Amino acid sequence: MPAAVLPPWLARLPSEDGLVFISDARRYSHDEAAYDTQYPIDAGNLKVGQGLIKWLRTIAADFSAPALELGCGTGLLSLGLIADSPYPLAIISDPSPEFLRITRAKAVAATLDQTRTCFAVLKGEELDRLPAGTLSLIVLRATLHHVLDVEAFLRSASRVLLPGGILAFQEPCMEGCILMGAMIQFLPALAAGAGEPLSPEQKKKVDDFANAMAFYARRDVDKSQAEDKHLFRVDEVMVTARRHGLDVTFDGNVSFDYPVLEPTPAPRAFSKSFRSYARYCMSWDESMMALFDRHIAPMTRLIDTASGGGPGPYLDGVFMCRKVR
Ligand SMILES: C[S@@+](CC[C@H](N)C(=O)[O-])C[C@H]1O[C@@H](n2cnc3c(N)ncnc32)[C@H](O)[C@@H]1O
Repeated sequence: MPAAVLPPWLARLPSEDGLVFISDARRYSHDEAAYDTQYPIDAGNLKVGQGLIKWLRTIAADFSAPALELGCGTGLLSLGLIADSPYPLAIISDPSPEFLRITRAKAVAATLDQTRTCFAVLKGEELDRLPAGTLSLIVLRATLHHVLDVEAFLRSASRVLLPGGILAFQEPCMEGCILMGAMIQFLPALAAGAGEPLSPEQKKKVDDFANAMAFYARRDVDKSQAEDKHLFRVDEVMVTARRHGLDVTFDGNVSFDYPVLEPTPAPRAFSKSFRSYARYCMSWDESMMALFDRHIAPMTRLIDTASGGGPGPYLDGVFMCRKVR
């Protein structure tokens, strides 16, 4: 009975302060509390995890065994997963105990019932430590791009899932990110041409953006020490996952919360996502965003127009992989 295997297995592992240690702890590359301030998640925000559960119901997913979230961070997906969990157990994990404490505190603040929840320290690379065929769900949001060997991860995920179990992940995609990097390079020339040349500090911010996109996309450099390692190609994920018994569907430019948003939105427009990426992921300030709006935003309109009736170039998206054997 797969649902009964994990609770006693977890109970035998070392634990401290209510956290179970499947892996040794590893801190995040940025201060966890500061990360929580940069990407604030209100304890009442249950939409992402609730959207995931609704999505899983529409594809008739199996809920008989436990669910595992890898890389919970500050709980953006975890809170709704705990709130709406149809699983016998939801294991919320991260390599960083600090992130687990932040997420657990938010679950307490939201008065969520945690009787079927376990908080565990776990690295994606060590997923194989779990017994085979014991999970109905493995979910990651913006976490798989931190794992160096994606194929080894897909192999392990397939091993620990039950037949019919789901591996779900939302990750950045190569084509849209390279497009952002290519376009942002033109900002200094466009601004200079309009009579407002960028300062050396502003030029560095543009270079950092473009170089980050190139680094994430590259496959010919050692990324073992880098925090962000990959951008994903849908075709590659499909072929690689299939090698390990996982059937993949993909929805581009949507997030896990998509099924609970009212009214159902169209896939996110490239211009909006590009702007948000500059503002929040590259931490551009007001003056940089004003330059973006004057010189880059007008150039993105063609891409929105060309994306009419479809998702356009993928900046990210949701991969749903079902274990078929
Ligand atoms: C960009 S944050 C995303 C956090 C959260 N899932 C969200 O969507 O807000 C990446 C998370 O992955 C975790 N992480 C980094 N490397 C990891 C690894 N090798 N295995 C599992 N989690 C990892 C980090 O500690 C962090 O919590």
